[in-house]
Amino acid sequence: MCGIFGYVNYNVEKTRGEISGALLDGLAKLEYRGYDSAGIAIDGDAPRETYIVREIGKVAALRKKYEATGYNQDVKFTNHAGIAHTRWATHGEPKVSNCHPQRSDPNNEFVVVHNGIITNFKELKTLLTNKGCTFESETDTECIAKLFKYVYDVNIKNGNHLNFAELMKQVLFEVEGSYGLLVKSPHYPNELCGTRKGSPLLVGVKTDKHLKVDFLDVKFPDIENSHAINLSKDNLGLDALPTSTSTLSTSESKTLQSEDGAPQSSEFFFASDPSSVIQHTKKVLFLEDDDIAHIANGELQIHRATKDDKLAATRSIQTLEIELAQIMKGPYKHFMQKEIYEQPESTFNTMRGRIDFENNTVTLGGLKSYLPTIRRSRRIIMIACGTSYHSCLATRSIFEELTQIPVSVELASDILDRRSPIFRDDTCIFVSQSGETADSMLALQYCLERDAFTVGIVNAVGSSISRGTHAGIHINAGPEIGVASTKAYTSQFIALVMMALSLGHDSVSKIERRKEIIQGLKHIPEQIKKVLALEEQIKELCTKDLTEQKSLLLLGRGYQHATALEGALKIKEISYIHSEGILAGELKHGSLALVDDELPIIAFATRDSLFPKVISAIEQVTARGGRPIIIKNEGDSGINGEKAIAVLEVPQTVDCLQGLLNVVPLQLISYWLASNKGIDVDFPRNLAKSVTVE
Ligand code: UD1
Ligand code: BG6
Repeated sequence: MCGIFGYVNYNVEKTRGEISGALLDGLAKLEYRGYDSAGIAIDGDAPRETYIVREIGKVAALRKKYEATGYNQDVKFTNHAGIAHTRWATHGEPKVSNCHPQRSDPNNEFVVVHNGIITNFKELKTLLTNKGCTFESETDTECIAKLFKYVYDVNIKNGNHLNFAELMKQVLFEVEGSYGLLVKSPHYPNELCGTRKGSPLLVGVKTDKHLKVDFLDVKFPDIENSHAINLSKDNLGLDALPTSTSTLSTSESKTLQSEDGAPQSSEFFFASDPSSVIQHTKKVLFLEDDDIAHIANGELQIHRATKDDKLAATRSIQTLEIELAQIMKGPYKHFMQKEIYEQPESTFNTMRGRIDFENNTVTLGGLKSYLPTIRRSRRIIMIACGTSYHSCLATRSIFEELTQIPVSVELASDILDRRSPIFRDDTCIFVSQSGETADSMLALQYCLERDAFTVGIVNAVGSSISRGTHAGIHINAGPEIGVASTKAYTSQFIALVMMALSLGHDSVSKIERRKEIIQGLKHIPEQIKKVLALEEQIKELCTKDLTEQKSLLLLGRGYQHATALEGALKIKEISYIHSEGILAGELKHGSLALVDDELPIIAFATRDSLFPKVISAIEQVTARGGRPIIIKNEGDSGINGEKAIAVLEVPQTVDCLQGLLNVVPLQLISYWLASNKGIDVDFPRNLAKSVTVE
């Protein structure tokens, strides 16, 4: 997904080199989200001049191109506003002309960076072309830049010099779709204006004095704005614009001014992800959809284009808890490897402060007051995408066993495609690491509109799903940077088990089962550590035996079916080798035709009630020359591994938790298959960490 970064210094002297460095470093922290080109826009040497530098490929290539421009890096700016962007191509292939920032005209009067998709960009392009605009790119974003200039010119023609926020408001009336947007213009020197609809955007605030308050008051328009320029009618001339002045509130926000009322020296950081801001400041403000954030003269103002009583009249300035260290690789070669190895710690953190292992109780601060509501639900629907979807499949059975409520598991895009019936007595659980996945967010919106009770199981605090659900659980796994989700999976899994334990707490018949599960959870962190010790054996397996195959089959049954699906996804998304997870009971109904002595088959044969049936599936495979890789419990002599390529031994835990351990060898297998192929594991081709477009 694309990344946005903006930097404003007010009353703080910075050289052009420092400013461009802050912008490029900000982009570098967003690299993990997946992208194929990047660009920045900063002030030039001449008055009102804007330099735009863009390049396809990595941020390092952009940095190199910027350094080759020969711009004077020592020029000092006491006040300056710059913007930057990493692009994951949606409209138009990765090439320089399609990179952001996109501009309004050859003089760069308005430059724009944008995440998301403008759904009416074709209509806008036609109208603006008819008004004499010439387009340079295939992007939808360029329409926004040109629309800014068009609306600005028409207002000026009418004698209206709008402030930047008011101008943005008029432009947004014409734009449909999803966006995180940042605009810079020499008409508004040293100012930035940003807004969001369906795509994250936050503002970091850094002042040389203590921030006086931890909130900003939102500026609502004094009157409903009836002055939208309706571009849809092609006959609109320049006189179609309102003659009124700004309809935005004009009251000054006093929040960031120093004691004597003068704006204090400040720096502001716009970003689409907190990880790029944390090195500068921990004070961040998350924008809501349709907020307009305007930075001018050391002041940050939040405006709303329309009067929206439902929305809070203030935006809190939160303190980010993540530390810079947490988003660095440390001794590991890739974030994915680091995050696989973090799982003893991250699974512990998910349970920290929530499970009392002495008294076998679970307390979820974010859910406890809603448990009676959820217990009265007619059904529970788990909704997610990708790996998060697999964590739902992995815990569906224990959820039903402990709560006695029917549980269905849905892919977010599919429940929307089917327009599936949702009712007010449904509880819908949204599992999402990023909390920004568009499919999941749209599904959340769909369920909210039908008055369902919504619960989030989310890693990113302050993300859209975390804020949009009625209640939920933060999995506290720490930032997950690797595109392939690993520690988030095991933490989501545990969070869902804890939720099931909380919901089923008053069932006498389940007391022993609950105690068994809680005690099982207690040992998971150290058991994962033991599984990680298999890495050398797995590395050798991948290097020696898994080199030529075109595909891999994974067999699991019951609780391990989800593990098979998740393992297959890991292999596909990281090593680009086709693999498929199959319910072991289904093998004989078709997939067995695939089996020969070439096809590696990974079988989950850890102990649970279905163990005998998995053994028979393995025998079906070996009887046809298939050579399985068997994952079994350590010391289990009940499995004949003679014909196996390899046998991987994992500790035994409670049946419904075994998937937490069994998935780790697959995470390592996928990692080493990819590494042995020289794939850049943290940037798998075509993928993004969080897909915030449909
Ligand atoms: C909260 C604090 C934690 C503090 C603890 C002390 C936060 C984010 N968490 O943790 O720092 O140590 O109290 O008791 O400040 N929520 C949603 N949707 C989601 C996820 C969460 O609405 O997807 C809500 C929860 O209902 C809750 C709040 O966000 O109201 C925080 O959730 P969570 O962090 O899980 O709560 P605690 O574990 O109590
Ligand atoms: C994909 C990621 O884009 O989105 C997967 O590559 C992830 O790793 C899936 O599981 C869902 O993302 P999220 O943030 O909603 O869990």
